[in-house]
Amino acid sequence: MYICIFFCIFAPNNKNYLPMTTQELNQAFEQVYGRKTEKMFFAPGRVNLIGEHTDYNGGCVFPCALNFGAWLLLAKNADKVLRFRSLNMDEVYEIAINAIKPQPNRAWCNYALGCIDIIARRHPEAKLESGYDILYYGNVPAGAGLSSSAAMEVVTARAFTEEMMKGLVDEWMSGLEGDKAYRTELALIGQACEHEYAGVMCGVMDQFASAQGKKDHAIYLNCDTLEFEHVPVKLNGIKVVITNTHSPHHLDSGAYNDRVRQCQTAVEQISRVKPIKFLAELSPEDWAEVEIAITDPIAKKRARHVVGEVARTAEAVEALKQGKIELFGKLMTASHVSLRDDYEVTGKELDSLAQAAWQVDGVLGSRMTGGGFGGCTVSLVRDEAIENFKAFVGAEYEKATGLKADFYVAEIGDGVARLA
Ligand code: GLA
Repeated sequence: MYICIFFCIFAPNNKNYLPMTTQELNQAFEQVYGRKTEKMFFAPGRVNLIGEHTDYNGGCVFPCALNFGAWLLLAKNADKVLRFRSLNMDEVYEIAINAIKPQPNRAWCNYALGCIDIIARRHPEAKLESGYDILYYGNVPAGAGLSSSAAMEVVTARAFTEEMMKGLVDEWMSGLEGDKAYRTELALIGQACEHEYAGVMCGVMDQFASAQGKKDHAIYLNCDTLEFEHVPVKLNGIKVVITNTHSPHHLDSGAYNDRVRQCQTAVEQISRVKPIKFLAELSPEDWAEVEIAITDPIAKKRARHVVGEVARTAEAVEALKQGKIELFGKLMTASHVSLRDDYEVTGKELDSLAQAAWQVDGVLGSRMTGGGFGGCTVSLVRDEAIENFKAFVGAEYEKATGLKADFYVAEIGDGVARLA
């Protein structure tokens, strides 16, 4: 009864993606579990500015963390069970701490269980000695391609590395290099969880952005070496606008994993003439020489996108550093075209949004962001054009698809943190 009232109270928040204050979250925990929170953590979602479907090809990406994400509150219990509740989901789970394994029917707690399991496997010194009462809240729109699942994984990895191996976490966090290494480890735990507990063979971009985000900066990450740089996003008079298709077609693991396999086929076929580990090793000049070796026409298109996108991403980052925002915008648009024509991950909804955006004066560039099919576009829009952008793109999109789009002006936030 208590819980039912509680969900009713907070349901409108979830729909509007509003943040909740730490006080509201603490109260929510007390209402759900009848006791006080011991700790609270937050990890953000992300938007990728450019560098799409390059991460699992050993290429570069350029995402930034957002100021919305996932919160985790916990308190130890004496029952040797993990109790999982979420303010966004009705399902409640109770799992014995010695029986952690994937739960059937795409249970949402798998994103948490996977991280806890993987921490223990990657770090034999890590021990889960007690049970926990755990509460999540997320305000990343689900299925929008803004990494709600990565936020949940990274916040869980942050909380449970601390609970399961505290000494080591203190040591890691004692210096700048240690902190960076720790955050990278959180991203790798999250990625392994996605592979093993959700069956999506994703790259590391989403979890990395959630772990290593920095306010007002994007992350230029080499997904092969995991070296990265925070690049200031200084856009005078221009905003990053995210537009949500609210499209029912989400990138399912099947379509995503197909792309991963098609790129592997291209690597195998190219390696007959030039041995490579990843498509991202190829420059556009190399491509002109080796493309003939790819006999599979689908694999050839996929590889052409990756090689072009890796070069575009490097050029775009350089352009941003030099304040050439118009060029950055053009490269974003070129990225969408390549994802549409060669990678074939856009679809009617994302294409309608991008095409409408390209027609608006004051839009520097617009592209799909994230895995694709449904989800969101990201656009650079001059301040004075934002209202017109929303009105025109919203109307064109509704005409083309019958759906209503949502617009968010992105605020670039910090990576995962303990809040209390
Ligand atoms: C999803 C995956 C990422 C990345 C993007 C496409 O978000 O989780 O690893 O591959 O798609 O760039």
